[in-house]
Amino acid sequence: MAQNRTFTMIKPDAFSAGNTGAILKMIEEAGFRIVAAKVTKLTAERAGQFYEVHKERPFYNDLCEYMSSGAIMALILEKDNAVADFRTLIGATNPAEAAEGTVRKLFAKSIEANAIHGSDSDENAQLEGSFFFSKDEEF
Ligand code: PPS
Repeated sequence: MAQNRTFTMIKPDAFSAGNTGAILKMIEEAGFRIVAAKVTKLTAERAGQFYEVHKERPFYNDLCEYMSSGAIMALILEKDNAVADFRTLIGATNPAEAAEGTVRKLFAKSIEANAIHGSDSDENAQLEGSFFFSKDEEF
């Protein structure tokens, strides 16, 4: 599988709990290279744009409110098979269903405060990365 990129956010629950360093350690030990990183805070409007694809879902407003409730860390990561391997590393969306040893099993509090986001396709990884980073912020 070709070297490719994925996008992730360490969500407000994990960031505010001081779990960022431990999560970054898991990411690097799993073989991902950090290509871009920033600590930032979404407005509710920007969160709404990011999650627009989910706007018909019942949790959309709660998700946008939650994702704009505190600081996050946004990152672009590079590795062979990055999108699929990263979703394996973070585990299922609902931490109650996440496999042992995954980021969500270790750090997520609930299906909403689930510690981390991972892109679900190469196309979305590219779109989501460019939502946060300009090309000259990628290394
Ligand atoms: S996924 O990863 O896209 O297949 O997951 P999905 O189930 O489609 O969920 C999309 C994002 O919505 C969040 N989510 C929720 N937030 C609040 N309440 C409920 N019930 C809920 N269910 C799902 C979930 O964490 C996903 O966020 P991201 O940032 O994409 O991981």
